[in-house]
Amino acid sequence: MNSFPPGFVFGSATSSYQIEGAVDVDGRGESIWDRFSHTPGKVKGGDNGDIACDHYHRFAEDIALLQKLNVDAYRLSIAWPRILPTGSEATPNAKGLAFYDRIVDGLLEAGITPWVTLYHWDLPQALQDAGGWPSRGIIDPFVHFADVMSRHLGDRVKHWITHNEPWVVATLGYWNGEHAPGIKDPNAALKAAHHILLSHGKAVPVIRANSADSQVGITLNLTPGIPASGSEADRIACQQFDGFFNRWYLDPLHKRGYPADQVAHYEDEGHLPKGLDFVHDGDLETIAVDTDFLGINYYSRAIIRSDKVDEADNAPRTQAVPPPERCTDFGWEVWPDGLYDIMARLHHDYDSGDLVVTENGCAYSTEPDDDGRVKDARRVSYFDSHLRACLRCVTDGIPLTGYFAWSLLDNFEWAEGYEKRFGLTWVDFETGERRPKDSFRFFAEVAKTGTLPTW
Ligand code: FCB
Repeated sequence: MNSFPPGFVFGSATSSYQIEGAVDVDGRGESIWDRFSHTPGKVKGGDNGDIACDHYHRFAEDIALLQKLNVDAYRLSIAWPRILPTGSEATPNAKGLAFYDRIVDGLLEAGITPWVTLYHWDLPQALQDAGGWPSRGIIDPFVHFADVMSRHLGDRVKHWITHNEPWVVATLGYWNGEHAPGIKDPNAALKAAHHILLSHGKAVPVIRANSADSQVGITLNLTPGIPASGSEADRIACQQFDGFFNRWYLDPLHKRGYPADQVAHYEDEGHLPKGLDFVHDGDLETIAVDTDFLGINYYSRAIIRSDKVDEADNAPRTQAVPPPERCTDFGWEVWPDGLYDIMARLHHDYDSGDLVVTENGCAYSTEPDDDGRVKDARRVSYFDSHLRACLRCVTDGIPLTGYFAWSLLDNFEWAEGYEKRFGLTWVDFETGERRPKDSFRFFAEVAKTGTLPTW
């Protein structure tokens, strides 16, 4: 069977800071990504999102692209500092709201369902100055932002995602400092993770109250780990990787609290000098609020080798280091089975309910040929293989209900700048020109027919 069931949602995704540009237009305030990308040495090539894809001005063209892509749905995010320039004003910025009205109304006219992510990383700088995600004081402003947006768009938007990838926000933002705001403090990162989850739990009922009959969820980036060998050291390292990357988020969201083995590990490492003192009474109940779906961003798997024993003393690898030809420009291994494995685990182990792939895609920097065509065969193959993994989930009865390709456009890839291209559409960052790639035509055909080709 090569066909998806009727009703399976095909979509594509973007995020505000990665595509909008227009960073100081119509009253938008400063975000942590403006500050970070303008700090020398933080983003490759000294790139920033000042202009990006200029989607702020070209959104109508991008909605036309989505129509050509035959998608049912489009996942976008809201730039918090466009709405509340310093993060918590009582009265929202009307021009910011009007921009998202134009997009949402344009999508609905085009027959495309908007899926709105509230937080895709562009925190108002003023809120970071007040402590950012490691501070409990961030929760009320986030819930206020969720209230403002769901009140304003709730009649037209019926699919809401509170947060995109809490692991990335906490770990890259506050643990290793690779992302904005560039802080390197594991304890702060664990507090950030908790406050992100807690703000999700508090925002869900607010969104539901404002947006009748809506579907509300959260998006996690999940990466299955596999030990590099059968050694005890690799097994333990892999369990810790899973605790760090997957279970630290999955467990509290599924009423299990924080995983005890990982708490003990963080205590051993000195990351929790005061234990879980930032977890207050009632927090875990709030975090475990019922949701309508779980969003998963899947890109790759991880092969885990212990760094606690010398290579010479460890068992020989039974999982080889992936060869470069199996990796994308990011160095991420192409491993479609991992998507299946994650979904099966969520269904069988966590009983997660409805699942949606809210991002999946690959970085390959194919440029237009002499004839102007962008022949990105490796991206076609990536999407084909991962869509087949999705189909296998559906066929096996795993409740996977939709798939969003990352991304509609080549865009600002965070600390990697513009060098890593994930788009179905090639973008000329000098002129703003958009050019659909071969993968765009491939995905458009799948979205139209609901069927994967027989090669
Ligand atoms: C995810 C992010 C998205 C994009 C892709 C490549 O972690 O959610 O914004 O950067 O990776």
